[in-house]
Amino acid sequence: MSQFWSAVVHGLKPYSPGEQPRLTQLIKLNTNENPYPPSPQVVAAIRAALGEEGAILARYPDPVGDKLKAAIIRFYAPRPLRPQQIFVGNSSDEVLSTVFQALFRHSRPLLFPDVTYSFYPSYCGLYDITYEQVPVDEDFSIRVEDYQGKANGGIIFPNPNAPSGRALPISDIERIVSAHPQSVVVVDEAYVDFGADTAIGLTHRYPNLLVVQTLSKSRALAGLRVGFAVGHPDLIEALERVKNCFNSYLLDHLALAGAAAALDDVAWFEQNRQKIIMSREDLSVRLGELGFQVIPSQANFIFAHHPDHAAETLAQQLRERRIIVRHFKQPRIDGYLRISIGTPEECAALVDALQQIVG
Ligand SMILES: Cc1ncc(COP(=O)(O)O)c(C=O)c1O
Repeated sequence: MSQFWSAVVHGLKPYSPGEQPRLTQLIKLNTNENPYPPSPQVVAAIRAALGEEGAILARYPDPVGDKLKAAIIRFYAPRPLRPQQIFVGNSSDEVLSTVFQALFRHSRPLLFPDVTYSFYPSYCGLYDITYEQVPVDEDFSIRVEDYQGKANGGIIFPNPNAPSGRALPISDIERIVSAHPQSVVVVDEAYVDFGADTAIGLTHRYPNLLVVQTLSKSRALAGLRVGFAVGHPDLIEALERVKNCFNSYLLDHLALAGAAAALDDVAWFEQNRQKIIMSREDLSVRLGELGFQVIPSQANFIFAHHPDHAAETLAQQLRERRIIVRHFKQPRIDGYLRISIGTPEECAALVDALQQIVG
């Protein structure tokens, strides 16, 4: 507390990110990172952008990110996009923050699920947005009917949802978007590449739909911080206007070069996500054999509950064995562990450790 703080700061409830421990030789399954390195073409593109002497660092980067937008357009070529339909930013968290500021500050409440990405309430606190949490079903599914007919100043949900990993089919997303033509509906697709369908194709038909994606997960670039949004040019203009009131150069030279190379290496992307999907399915079966109830996941993590063991204690016991997973001390989900998918060796070590603990 300080007399120097702006009034809003006193009431903020900041998001607490998963731990980034300094210890080495840990199996880190707590923040949904990709366990593999990014495409070698990313590293080559960053080296090429930097050059021998790094002279480029003396210059400001492209404020618009034209080359990155062109790479996004190439990746989504079967669904033609124009640069005016794309906003790029320094991580999807920052893109989401810009979205909350630019599109959700209305008098009616913003709607989002009660079990979801816990950053959303923090943005609401920061931008003074009232919100209503819509309970997910007992099995953590989002029920489309619960959003129908509810007055709102916008709707946001991840697809697949976090931390459950459950995904809605595109037809359900379309039902939500078409039922609320007066509201912006934002689909946060941080994990979409691990088994769900993107709603980007719907943005051509629905001017109230905005899709947000990140390169942190399926392109193994959590450390580079690149995200983007796709939607109607009017929505994108709102984001650009807000962005140009706080930082014209959201992405640096290296992030712009690396992100474009990651989008262009489709073979690496396909191979990587298939490996993670296979490990997820295998780990789900193995945990089931140990008595865990595993929510069916379309993401790069699983959400699991053991009827005979407290999740918090399990997380602690895993930690003693140098394996870190995520436990949320929150109503409805404090009996669950969220486990990011690691390499097959990391998943095997987790199963061995859990076998010792619960077996
Ligand atoms: C649902 C969801 N959206 C967005 C993000 C943010 O990703 P990033 O800021 O790395 O792009 C995360 C990160 O874990 C997430 O779980």
